[in-house]
Amino acid sequence: MLTDRFNRIIDYIRISVTDRCNLRCKYCVEDQFPFIPHDEILTYEEIIRFVRICAGLGVSKIRLTGGEPLARKGIPFLIREIAAIEGIRDIGLTTNGVYLGRQLADLKAAGLKRVNISLDSLKKERFAYITGVDAFDEVLRSIKMSVHAGLDPVKINTVIIQGFNDDEILDFAKLAKTRNVEIRFIEFMPFGDSGLWHSSRIITSQEIEDRIRTLYELESSSNPHKGPAKMFDIKEGLGRIGFISPVSSHICHECNRIRLTSRGAIKPCLFGDEEYDVKKMFRENATDEEISNFIINTVKTKPERKAEMGQIRKCQRNLRHIGG
Ligand code: GTP
Ligand code: 5AD
Ligand code: SF4
Repeated sequence: MLTDRFNRIIDYIRISVTDRCNLRCKYCVEDQFPFIPHDEILTYEEIIRFVRICAGLGVSKIRLTGGEPLARKGIPFLIREIAAIEGIRDIGLTTNGVYLGRQLADLKAAGLKRVNISLDSLKKERFAYITGVDAFDEVLRSIKMSVHAGLDPVKINTVIIQGFNDDEILDFAKLAKTRNVEIRFIEFMPFGDSGLWHSSRIITSQEIEDRIRTLYELESSSNPHKGPAKMFDIKEGLGRIGFISPVSSHICHECNRIRLTSRGAIKPCLFGDEEYDVKKMFRENATDEEISNFIINTVKTKPERKAEMGQIRKCQRNLRHIGG
């Protein structure tokens, strides 16, 4: 078992497989941003080795993120290899959905059971404005195909930003009522190069929930995958609604995860600036035992919580390097 200094069990690794992305979400990046050179990105062999070593330490859940993970070739191969590792029971993918439809059959055949898809607007023109790309129809098609293919759950991540898309909260709630999807409203976190983040643009989960309750009846529900979202059933609805509150509330006490960045560093806390280079060890021929000890020690540096209560500060890294 991997445990930290606060008796939290770490059994979940989020792996950013690339910093590249086919979208340019306004809250995430500037129009032009430099990519990490290919040879500085972890190879699939390195990622697979890392997961195998972590599985030996009790990790059972893996999520692939990006940038956009499907912007990297061969993700079905990676999923198949990870699924074959003893002890790995859950593999998820967080994607912007643009390439998902066309790869869905291969991903499912490789062992993918569930997806989280980002979608910040239900209006085609606004989607194009926010993401910089006219790909709304592809994303919607991917969502429909994922539900149809039996991926379960299909989660939709919606970052709510004041003055940007907060007028669509009820439209997203309606989608959760009429489709078998989980809409998760995420508070706007202090990341990104774009300069868009400002504390005045945050709408808290509580405010979003209050707005939804003006029209819909919500009943508290459990979250079978644990995770950061507080889940609700929607009366007579097919889907569910969740709230992810990284800004307003402390989910840190039940944090069960660490991250591996596309550059090959372990990140013990999403909000921390500390990173521990494991790629260097791979490339300097460290043994599995040395890497295993390194992971154990890194987990011991995990902070108790993201920051002092009530304090919000802008994080140095961009989410596309860390994968959210
Ligand atoms: P599952 O519960 O496995 O479905 O995954 P998830 O909800 O952790 O994954 P997803 O990639 O969809 O993450 C959605 C959002 O949850 C991220 O963008 C973050 O806002 C938030 N989140 C995920 N992990 C953490 C974490 O460790 N700390 C905090 N504060 N927020 C997190
Ligand atoms: N705040 C909250 N969520 C964000 N995401 C990207 N940037 C931010 C931010 N600043 C979301 C994406 C994706 C998830 C992994 O993180 O929309 O759904
Ligand atoms: Fe790409 Fe996600 Fe950043 Fe949008 S938020 S530009 S989809 S990495």
